[in-house]
Amino acid sequence: MKNKQWWQQAVIYQIYPKSFYDSNNDGIGDLQGIIQKLDYLQNLGIDVIWLCPIYQSPMQDNGYDVANYYEINEMFGTMADFDLLIVESKKRKIKIMMDIVLNHTSDQHQWFLESKKNKTNCYHDYYIWRDQRNDLKSIFGGSAWTFNEDLQQYYFHMFADQQPDLNWDNEKVRLEIAKIINFWVTKGVVGFRFDVIDLIGKNIDKKILANGPNLHQYIKELRANSWKTDEIVTVGECWGASLETGIQYSKPQAKELSMIFQFEHIAFNYDKELNKWKKDPFDLVTFKKIITKWQQGLQNQGWNSLFFENHDLPRSVSVFGDPHYFWSASAKLLAGVNLSLQGTPYIYQGQEIGMTNVKNWALSDYQDLEIHNAYKELVEEKKLLTASEFMKSVEEVGRDNARTGFQWSNELNAGFTTAKPWIKGNDNYLEINVENQINTPNSILSFYQKMIKLRKDTQYSTLFSDGDFEIIDLYHPQLMIYTRKQIIKNYYSLVIDLQMSRIIIQIF
Ligand code: GLC
Ligand code: CA
Repeated sequence: MKNKQWWQQAVIYQIYPKSFYDSNNDGIGDLQGIIQKLDYLQNLGIDVIWLCPIYQSPMQDNGYDVANYYEINEMFGTMADFDLLIVESKKRKIKIMMDIVLNHTSDQHQWFLESKKNKTNCYHDYYIWRDQRNDLKSIFGGSAWTFNEDLQQYYFHMFADQQPDLNWDNEKVRLEIAKIINFWVTKGVVGFRFDVIDLIGKNIDKKILANGPNLHQYIKELRANSWKTDEIVTVGECWGASLETGIQYSKPQAKELSMIFQFEHIAFNYDKELNKWKKDPFDLVTFKKIITKWQQGLQNQGWNSLFFENHDLPRSVSVFGDPHYFWSASAKLLAGVNLSLQGTPYIYQGQEIGMTNVKNWALSDYQDLEIHNAYKELVEEKKLLTASEFMKSVEEVGRDNARTGFQWSNELNAGFTTAKPWIKGNDNYLEINVENQINTPNSILSFYQKMIKLRKDTQYSTLFSDGDFEIIDLYHPQLMIYTRKQIIKNYYSLVIDLQMSRIIIQIF
């Protein structure tokens, strides 16, 4: 299969607007801030910006609780700022991909406010209400059901109680959603990242959440009613995807999504009971098997997305690398892997300068509701972890590791804002910042630039998009060595030594 879609040779950069750049000094990043940094992104060489949610929202879950899909959150700016972002990006050959949350809304969304008025309200059935609840649990801790006194009914929420799940089995809901997508396509966005899309086909009564019976049918229907073409790039967040479902979503003839985010290489050492809050030690051989499985399994079948970081994950140099002794080498190593495999690579803001996890924060420093809910549940209620075990774990996996202000310079608040930032910053900004790395030959940032350039060089670009992947010496406990090969053209081999943090690139 020839890979010919534009996004198969694109590099996508994820922006968490709240923490990227604050243009009006209120401590919160914003759309004008992104516009001011477009030259930086163009210089890095990326093609697409994935914008985390910027819709109107009470921000209980930082925008993943949408109150109005057609309006811009005031803290980020106005619709005019958004339109300008599209225009200014286009001038720099950068496209915009929206993050869209369709499994649930905010409890402040008009639909939900109507829904809870009474059982005969025409929006009641937009959400999942039951007279009795079952024992399903929310991903953010506690029961997945919240009781409403007025209605004497429970509503279902996979995440926080301020994030009620939409009832996708209601056709009206599905049509509203298609309308929302069409609105943004008309605005000029070229893609969508679908938040927890694998949950939309669920069957609550049978306790089937991810990969439910109606999932693929609903995606096909949504595509047919909205974006329709392969010109629009789509990626679904699918924590529970297997290789088989990965193919099902992304094979071109299925007319579903361009690709999915699967998390096997991230979550393989999570605990059965405590999930990410307790991890087994990292095992390189297992990691290599997972990468090989997905690289070879999707070859000529579907399409991979490549990532080590996002706004929900800790910093990759802290997870897979050694931020203390081999900070620069391990950050480059991860760049090398992320940008040499088959698939569309994603870079999360700050990854390109080797931003690290935070250290020695108090519980009250963390802003993420997931962390506070998990503390209540795992430490206070169930006593599965002691407070100090939990704090250690938060330092390793907490989502706020990725959400501190972007480190632009060695100025106040790392140059992210001159006001008090909405979240504490990382102490290491004096050493780790863009200013120290830009136009510096051996910096992590320069390495990212070089890898992106190499990947897009017309001489090698089809090798990166189409070439076979082969792992060498799979059972070697310290070395990860693989080749990308394309018979008719060049032969490219990338040798990666995780222990020595060394990358050898050979092109024959
Ligand atoms: C996804 C988002 C995450 C959010 C959750 C609920 O996993 O990436 O940030 O909290 O969905 O919307
Ligand atoms: Ca601001």
